Amino acid sequence: MAKTSAQFICSACGAVHRKWSGRCDACGAWNTIIEEAPLSAGPASRTLGAAKGKVITLTTLATQETPPPRALSGMAEFDRVLGGGLVPASAILVGGDPGIGKSTLLLQAVAAFARKGLKCLYISGEEAAEQVRMRARRLGLADAPVGLGAETNLRDILTTMDSERPALVVIDSIQTVWADMVEAAPGSVSQVRAAAHELVTFAKTRGVSVVLVGHVTKEGQLAGPRVVEHMVDTVLYFEGERGHQFRILRAVKNRFGPASEIGVFEMTGAGLAEVANPSALFLSERGEAAPGSAVFAGIEGTRPVLTEIQALVAPSTLASPRRTVVGLDSGRISTILAVLESRCGIPFTGLDVFLNVAGGMKVSEPAADLAAAAALLSAREDVALPADMVIFGEISLSAALRPVGQAENRLKEAAKLGFTQAIAPRGTKVEGGGGMRLRKLPDLVTFVGDMFGA
Ligand code: TYD
Ligand code: MG
Repeated sequence: MAKTSAQFICSACGAVHRKWSGRCDACGAWNTIIEEAPLSAGPASRTLGAAKGKVITLTTLATQETPPPRALSGMAEFDRVLGGGLVPASAILVGGDPGIGKSTLLLQAVAAFARKGLKCLYISGEEAAEQVRMRARRLGLADAPVGLGAETNLRDILTTMDSERPALVVIDSIQTVWADMVEAAPGSVSQVRAAAHELVTFAKTRGVSVVLVGHVTKEGQLAGPRVVEHMVDTVLYFEGERGHQFRILRAVKNRFGPASEIGVFEMTGAGLAEVANPSALFLSERGEAAPGSAVFAGIEGTRPVLTEIQALVAPSTLASPRRTVVGLDSGRISTILAVLESRCGIPFTGLDVFLNVAGGMKVSEPAADLAAAAALLSAREDVALPADMVIFGEISLSAALRPVGQAENRLKEAAKLGFTQAIAPRGTKVEGGGGMRLRKLPDLVTFVGDMFGA
């Protein structure tokens, strides 16, 4: 038998290298290259005789009826993150830390789809069918007509899908699936990649929607190569803090809807409950007006979400003071600190800076710049901002404030929650604003003068 030489695969990006090295040339990650056996046989689905070489033209598509409608689960938060329901024959990846609630979420989702008449299969490689049934009973889903399977062999899974002909299949998790034509352990890069490829291809050719559950590593990356993210139509991340009850399902890629859309859930004793008004939840722990707190009127996907940004500034004993940022982009915070120092004359040298978004929410919009600056200044000056004020706006390197999109929506959401005043960049276009008192400022220097009289 010809000796097949091993190959080296980067577990972050999936690039194949001829030799091991400490750093992947393709993605620049360190210590991610591992040795694995190459693919030794062709894909398993070849034996299943899928249609080959058939071409349809755009014009024939145009003459067809409207595309098949999306299926709605009735779980509004879940449907929204998918972009308005499940697109037939789509492939979805749901990533998240172990124990965050992925299995619970997907079991609830398939049960909801099944009750709407969709034929659903839930295949678990982590739990026995009886355990899944027990969980379903605890969640009050025992009567939902979901097909359960406990399989890990890819061939068995494909055969089951072939004979059952479901409309939706959940594979929990992709790391447990094992393709016997690949000589590597389950969960390894080659296995995850081969299994995901087979499942997605099979699903696409048969018009089945498939949801792959994936664990993420300590570094927050999907265990297995990033290439799985490229194979699917939609990538969702299920996130949350250990100490908090709420969970966020976030679309980071979606061919069928807006990326960065979020769905908010609360983990209860009876499974995940939908949170229809996330702003109220994120602000629920806010007490009296205190220094270091600013409320940011943000937009997540298509809807406004208010969050509290908290800052603490304290004298440092370290030669290079701490900059601890949780829930915001630390690069942007460094920029804001530099702008405050060089354009507004407010240095943070010799001071430790801690900044976080209350409740464990992650905010990536540049529109949060001004609220972050406000929280930092409020902490440094030990002056509380008015408790009924929301803030939004992007800060440029020249300290000018740049208007951001959807100002109207931000203000309306704030008004709904009882806020009465807002600070926004000059040039912000608003018509009504829900009766909020709106102050439009040209730059950060004016903001500092206005709020802190510096
Ligand atoms: P699980 O869905 O098994 O997580 P994952 O599939 O992401 O690993 O969720 C496990 C956690 O959820 C566990 O810590 C217990 C908690 N949980 C509840 O709080 N309430 C419930 O009704 C259920 C089913 C789980
Ligand atoms: Mg699980």
